[in-house]
Amino acid sequence: MRLVFIGDIVGNVGRETVKRLLPWIQEKYRPHLIIANGENAAGGRGINAAIARDLYDWGVHGITMGNHTWDNREIFEFIDDEPRMVRPANLPPGTPGKGAMIVKANGKELAVLNLIGRTFLPPADCPFRTADEVLAELRKRTKCVLVDFHAEATSEKIAMGWYLDGRASLVVGTHTHVQTHDHRILPEGTAYVTDAGMTGPRDGVLGMERESVIRKFVTGLPSRFTVAEGKWALNGVFTEIDEATGHASKVELIRMDEDSWIAV
Ligand SMILES: [Fe+2]
Ligand SMILES: [Fe+2]
Repeated sequence: MRLVFIGDIVGNVGRETVKRLLPWIQEKYRPHLIIANGENAAGGRGINAAIARDLYDWGVHGITMGNHTWDNREIFEFIDDEPRMVRPANLPPGTPGKGAMIVKANGKELAVLNLIGRTFLPPADCPFRTADEVLAELRKRTKCVLVDFHAEATSEKIAMGWYLDGRASLVVGTHTHVQTHDHRILPEGTAYVTDAGMTGPRDGVLGMERESVIRKFVTGLPSRFTVAEGKWALNGVFTEIDEATGHASKVELIRMDEDSWIAV
């Protein structure tokens, strides 16, 4: 199974980048499944039904979320009826939506689990124990499992990679919006990367307009952040999974921006 994961899609630039680049990604990687993190897709904060529909129309098969899941209130209107979207599984019992799903496309089945970290993020249940419980269930259905661990601390993410080695096909970090270069296949067969990076405006600060972020750091005063415009960057991960074992056989970074990408 060939799998593409696209890091946090940020605002209009991020969405337009996905629309424009997905045909090229489909051509180059021939993925059976494309999963994307959509927590910043609507103006940097959350997602709505129309944007989710666009992403599916353009070729995304499943959407993961993170700490911005609830920022756009429209999500409450559709997340319970949305089979192709997950929010972190380790939120309190009774939270709308679900934390894991099976995505089917091109004759393949992939389990997708979304978790959120607890270091430098609001309180959540233990992502490690949640992973134990949910993975045991998911792996009864399929050995091909993607885990999007939405977390701030590199140590927590690396620990999760090792903790799930052999139980997930890909553990990919999201949230920091900066791609890390530590992609590898761990000894028991799990592909791992600390952060996939973001898909959005390249020349802001993590996707936000840079002047307002700089002003906040310099003055210490409140500052309203808006999503940046301008040149795009697309960041993600490509993995090949052996469906018999669920182990990864290849992991590569996807990293492009408006100046380096040449359409062919
Ligand atoms: Fe994000
Ligand atoms: Fe986040």
